[in-house]
Amino acid sequence: MNNLITIALAKGRILKETLPLLERAGILPLDDLEKSRKLIFETNHPNINLVLIRSADVPTYVQYGAADMGIAGKDVLLEHGGEGLYEWLDLKIAPCRLMTAGFADRELPAGRLKVATKYTTITRDYFTQQGRQVELIKLYGSMELAPIVGLADMIVDLVDTGNTLKANGLVPQEFIMQISSRLIVNRASLKMKNRAIKQVITKIENAINPPVE
Ligand code: PRP
Repeated sequence: MNNLITIALAKGRILKETLPLLERAGILPLDDLEKSRKLIFETNHPNINLVLIRSADVPTYVQYGAADMGIAGKDVLLEHGGEGLYEWLDLKIAPCRLMTAGFADRELPAGRLKVATKYTTITRDYFTQQGRQVELIKLYGSMELAPIVGLADMIVDLVDTGNTLKANGLVPQEFIMQISSRLIVNRASLKMKNRAIKQVITKIENAINPPVE
């Protein structure tokens, strides 16, 4: 039986906190993921490979079984919808908040607000729950620019230190939800490669909560 386990990792901010977690779990890539231009990496475990992709693509790879497991932010999981995968574990890494943001001193126009975001599903749900009608403008990054150039009245984005908002003259306003990274598992892989998947999960669980000696 093929017991090769492929774990999809997100490039960027999450990777910085994922690599020390994997190291504590005893899963060591044979190359430097932050320097290499490769996309597939072998590890010190011959049956564990890593693939390095855009964070929003991690749930898709896991959904279709192109990766057996993945590490992705709750934000991208909610946007993806979670089809075909289990959200197994809150890794409590890469914590941040999903917030609305805008200009502190600007009066909002009457009528429908224009909200720019890449998180259109979460944003639509948030405003619908509040009975507020908004016009969503889908962007893929650099949302902070939208209010400055008049594309939107406010944005919905991740806030960590708040430095990006501040640097662009914006302030965080409404708190939508707390975000952290999650371990996700393909549903079919969990059945077909149960033993190997469980071994990886145990390694990662122990890296989060070291067993008492
Ligand atoms: C996120 C987010 C903000 C920034 C917030 O982008 O979209 O731009 O980080 O962080 P701060 O509050 O510490 O300044 P990220 O760097 O993840 O890249 P992205 O633009 O690809 O989303």
